Amino acid sequence: MTDSSTAGGGPRSHGPRWFLGLTAVAVVASVAVLALLVNIFERRQEAREPATRVVELNDTIDDPSVWGLNYPDQFDSFVRTVDQVRTRYGGSEAFPRTPTDADPRTFVSRSKIEEDERLKTMWAGYGFSKDFREERGHAYMLEDQTFTGRQASGQPGTCANCHASTVTAWLELGDGDLTRGFEVMNQMPYMEARTHLDQAVACIDCHDAETMELRVTRPAFIEGMAAYMAGRGVADYDVNRDATRQEMRSYVCGQCHVEYHFRGAEKRLTYPWESGLTVEAAYDYYEGIGFSDWTHAETGGGVLKAQHPEFELWSQGIHARADVSCADCHMPYQRVGARKVTNHHVQSPLLNVAAACQSCHNVAEAEILARAENVQGLTYRLRNQAMDAVVELTEELREAREAGVSDERLALARELHRRALFYVDYVEAENSTGFHAPQEAARILGESLDYARQGQLALRDADYRPKIAARPDGAQR
Ligand code: HEC
Ligand code: HEC
Ligand code: HEC
Ligand code: HEC
Ligand code: HEC
Repeated sequence: MTDSSTAGGGPRSHGPRWFLGLTAVAVVASVAVLALLVNIFERRQEAREPATRVVELNDTIDDPSVWGLNYPDQFDSFVRTVDQVRTRYGGSEAFPRTPTDADPRTFVSRSKIEEDERLKTMWAGYGFSKDFREERGHAYMLEDQTFTGRQASGQPGTCANCHASTVTAWLELGDGDLTRGFEVMNQMPYMEARTHLDQAVACIDCHDAETMELRVTRPAFIEGMAAYMAGRGVADYDVNRDATRQEMRSYVCGQCHVEYHFRGAEKRLTYPWESGLTVEAAYDYYEGIGFSDWTHAETGGGVLKAQHPEFELWSQGIHARADVSCADCHMPYQRVGARKVTNHHVQSPLLNVAAACQSCHNVAEAEILARAENVQGLTYRLRNQAMDAVVELTEELREAREAGVSDERLALARELHRRALFYVDYVEAENSTGFHAPQEAARILGESLDYARQGQLALRDADYRPKIAARPDGAQR
């Protein structure tokens, strides 16, 4: 090769060429370095200012596709919440159905009550025994609420709090006062509230239009957290002023993924947290105000329905303790070009283990999945045992009633049934199948099973003395 044959030659004869070559290399190198610097600078700018402001956003614009003009990457993933993919215990699955005038949906997710008949016994006499399905992506929240069979009994406008983008409607109804608008909508019949709403949860419900900072827009969460913090000795707590950024990455979800009830004639959406976030805190709160969701058709007792306490159960788990937020798992960062962007396709993290779990756990995908499914499998097993016990107590109560046993004699068994039912439902209604706090989920199911069996003992023995476990303390929140 010519190069190697000249390489050993003296500098004199090859002087000019050698010099020119070196200069050329230096020029190319410095141009390359400069280009790299410019590129890095540009990417940095890009990363800092990910969006070009195409439109001015404000609190009158709720359409996410308008916000998407400024933030196309977040919008691209946001619209993917239409996906329906099943995991072993969660996710969702699309079942085709024939649309009717009353219900134009062409797909729905699976029916939980058809899958497990025991649920119908648990909720006998209540709308949930007529229609209750697996939840699915955010894109469907408004239509699934509008067309659920549970609308047959007539629902209040309060339902809309967690199933729609409500900010612009509330500001309008409250003449610029969000909380006032919330109060006005709560007191409407659902179908009237529905006319003020046209989309599922949107950018405006979690983000400040000007700064894009996270914000809580739901008065029930603001009030619930203030009551919870007051119970822990913190007066005048305001989530939007006092929460850290990492806390906000869970609080925006806690606006809706929580246990709730409608308080008083004004149907105010209220979260039962004044004495904590545990199942006991919720139960004691309802006892304190003498609240029941309905009278059980088989037992004749006043009972409670638990609903999706994801925020509460998560708060009792190891991940919350380690400061891991809902967004860390359900909205992990994704790379778009040189940027790290929050994935707005909120879904089961088990469909996205690489980003959702392996960012923290240096463990192979199959192993991390196996760990999660192991927790879920064991929770599901204990849930079934507790549910069997609650159903047996329900049947025995019905038989005792049919045999003419007095209300007085049934009172203790009904009380134990009320508690056992709420506890098993608390884990059943929580959508992670125990994953958000495995030990806590098992504790609650264990206690449910115990109360159900004690209820059966109380039916057999008029002198039975119940053993209600003291509220756990220590690490509980
Ligand atoms: C450490 C990760 C992690 C954190 C933190 C976390 N989750 Fe989850 N979540 C999971 C896993 C895993 C599942 C089970 C998914 C499945 O079974 O497919 C799940 C399930 C769910 C589901 C049901 C999803 C489905 O597809 O069935 C909802 C809703 C949910 N979580 C909401 C929340 C909320 C709200 C928070 C915060 C308060 C939260 N999660 C915090 C990992 C997490
Ligand atoms: C505090 C917030 C909140 C309120 C208030 C609320 N929901 Fe929901 N709803 C949710 C969440 C979160 C899910 C998804 C998790 C689940 O299905 O457990 C959901 C799921 C649903 C679903 C789909 C699954 C199913 O149950 O078939 C329907 C239908 C529904 N809600 C109807 C209603 C109706 C009717 C009301 C009023 C009585 C209501 N919701 C009030 C938060 C709420
Ligand atoms: C359910 C709540 C929720 C909704 C709805 C939502 N976001 Fe976000 N968004 C988040 C969270 C959580 C983060 C992470 C913020 C953080 O870490 O400080 C985020 C971050 C962002 C960021 C900051 C950059 C980034 O990627 O981290 C932008 C921009 C953004 N979202 C745009 C949007 C747009 C546009 C929409 C509507 C199409 C939207 N968001 C809807 C919760 C939401
Ligand atoms: C405005 C209320 C609201 C907010 C805020 C909200 N969710 Fe939801 N979420 C719902 C409802 C309602 C559903 C069920 C929709 C349906 O079944 O039609 C749901 C469904 C889900 C699902 C099931 C998705 C699937 O594919 O099965 C997950 C996971 C979830 N939410 C997590 C979150 C996380 C994480 C946050 C915060 C970043 C959050 N949600 C914020 C109301 C809300
Ligand atoms: C932001 C970091 C982070 C993310 C994301 C995360 N984890 Fe973790 N995980 C932790 C920490 C921290 C612990 C506590 C263990 C410790 O401190 O050693 C933990 C503990 C666990 C444990 C043991 C639980 C126990 O009860 O001891 C399991 C199982 C687990 N994670 C699974 C998952 C799965 C599955 C995902 C994804 C859905 C996930 N983690 C996402 C940080 C994370």
